[in-house]
Amino acid sequence: MAVPSPSPLPSPTLIQLAPKHVGACLELDRAALGGIWSLAQWQRELEEEARPGLGLRQGQELLAMACGWLVVDELHITLVAVAPGHRRRGLGRRILEELMQVGLRSGASRATLEVAAGNGPGTGLYEALGFRTAGIRHGYYRSGEDALIQWVNLKR
Ligand SMILES: CC(C)(COP(=O)(O)OP(=O)(O)OC[C@H]1O[C@@H](n2cnc3c(N)ncnc32)[C@H](O)[C@@H]1OP(=O)(O)O)[C@@H](O)C(=O)NCCC(=O)NCCS
Repeated sequence: MAVPSPSPLPSPTLIQLAPKHVGACLELDRAALGGIWSLAQWQRELEEEARPGLGLRQGQELLAMACGWLVVDELHITLVAVAPGHRRRGLGRRILEELMQVGLRSGASRATLEVAAGNGPGTGLYEALGFRTAGIRHGYYRSGEDALIQWVNLKR
């Protein structure tokens, strides 16, 4: 008798992050990044119109998120995170591409971010999406690591 194969997981749903998601954002921030923003910082992030934030949700679980800050014609990407158990499934690429589209629709022509030089997954993801290093802040992080300042054109 044929054994039915398990049905594939449905693709996570894209959501616009809002103040009601503050708990889930704090939780994913802690799990993925060790908690870089406080509750007050997350509240501001989720309230301000010029700070677009997107999430990928499966059921009630937030699997990925990306946040940015619109500054005139630039999108400053301030955070990208995927839950540790869900990496290498294309979620980081998807959420960042979606955020770049939001930036473009909001009038941004370029996007920029900072990433630690030794963050292989981060630099790998950004390179895959076309970001290129334009400058280095030496010893920028508390660990003494350099920060790479990267840019990509959103209008291609
Ligand atoms: C960086 C991060 C967001 C990547 O998310 P992800 O969902 O695993 O990435 P994706 O599966 O979408 O990968 C897209 C591309 O990024 C690159 N990449 C992702 N993880 C990588 C790794 N561990 N090593 C090298 N390249 C990697 C690859 O080019 C990959 O394409 P491929 O799978 O076709 O090879 C995730 O590792 C994470 O949350 N890390 C902790 C938080 C962090 O460092 N954020 C970014 C720094 S600000």
